Amino acid sequence: MEKLIVLLPGDGIGKEVTASAQDILETVSEKFGHSFSFESHDIGGIAVDNHGTPLPDQTVEACKQADAVLLGAVGGPKWDNLPSHLRPERGLLGIRKALDLFANLRPVKGFPTLLHASPLKEEIINGSDLLIVRELTGGLYFGTPSERRDNGNAVVDTLTYTRREIERIVDKAFQSAQLRQKKLTSVDKANVLESSKLWREIVEEKKQDYPDVTVDHVLVDAAAMKLITNPSAFDVIVTENMFGDILSDEASVLTGSLGMLPSASLAENGVGLYEPAHGSAPDIAGKGIANPIATILSAALLLRYSFGLDEEALAIENAVEAVVNEGYHTADLHVENGKLINTNEMTQLIAEFIKNET
Ligand code: NAI
Ligand code: MG
Repeated sequence: MEKLIVLLPGDGIGKEVTASAQDILETVSEKFGHSFSFESHDIGGIAVDNHGTPLPDQTVEACKQADAVLLGAVGGPKWDNLPSHLRPERGLLGIRKALDLFANLRPVKGFPTLLHASPLKEEIINGSDLLIVRELTGGLYFGTPSERRDNGNAVVDTLTYTRREIERIVDKAFQSAQLRQKKLTSVDKANVLESSKLWREIVEEKKQDYPDVTVDHVLVDAAAMKLITNPSAFDVIVTENMFGDILSDEASVLTGSLGMLPSASLAENGVGLYEPAHGSAPDIAGKGIANPIATILSAALLLRYSFGLDEEALAIENAVEAVVNEGYHTADLHVENGKLINTNEMTQLIAEFIKNET
């Protein structure tokens, strides 16, 4: 299979972890007989430096022409004092909107050897394996008006959703559940918010189309509690933009480190974008010690969702699991009697495992 992958390394450790993921994708393409080509473009702070904008037109165009996009992270202290339209995060929000990436999928899975790395009790996180499906281009983060009023003494933000916006994310969640344990939890605040009432109605309508999936509705405050008291109760969670933002960071504690969490952002028909859940980690950037696993697992999602290469995706996921379960870890994780290694060593171990697996 011939495919073009656009890399948007961005800033800080973004460059280091995308280089690792590219290595792994090249290993997979060799092993399975594909031909992946790569093209790098600027986004975020580096794009501000080189082009005067966090999202150059040529970056958007290149992404639209690509078969898939793999992004590192953006931002850093160097750009913190820029006016808001020039901030690196604008590049990220801009590319999500430009590619209409409405569905953000975040799988969260605890690894057996990393149970100690989480502040939660082992018996609580043991066996947790869930997928958060977050709506990414609607809701409070994009609604207008969003402004100060009354000489700055009052504010308004707006939460809007259309039926179509809810239907497409709910469909995506049901389809995701069909590929997993067939259990969908819809998270809302339907006791208070009109938007949540429509959300709940649509989930109830849609469940007729997916009779093999069991559905329940949980209010977001209860869901926040249940996520860290009984995470194994969840399979797929579907929720609106802000609730999903908060719950997915909360869920990251199940894995022990932000450096382990991948994500996929998908459009209806267009190109998909894949990125680690973490940021540019300026405190460790340039030291070669970043955990590349979140980005490597994002590359696995890229193969699965954008190219339909499930066997190749599994090869990466199995390799990561095997290396982690042998006790190897980067500095962000504390593993009892573990073997501390750097970014490059972790990448090479995962690559070797993929090469040698029959
Ligand atoms: P962060 O995720 O960059 O770092 C939080 C902590 O986790 C730091 O101590 C960092 O060293 C550690 N960490 C994160 N990823 C790691 C990895 N792969 N390996 C080892 N350690 C890792 O979040 P923070 O510090 O709040 O933000 C730093 C910059 O990143 C800011 O400019 C922020 O705006 C930006 N950011 C960008 C995101 C993106 O591009 N998607 C998301 C979150 C933050
Ligand atoms: Mg967030």
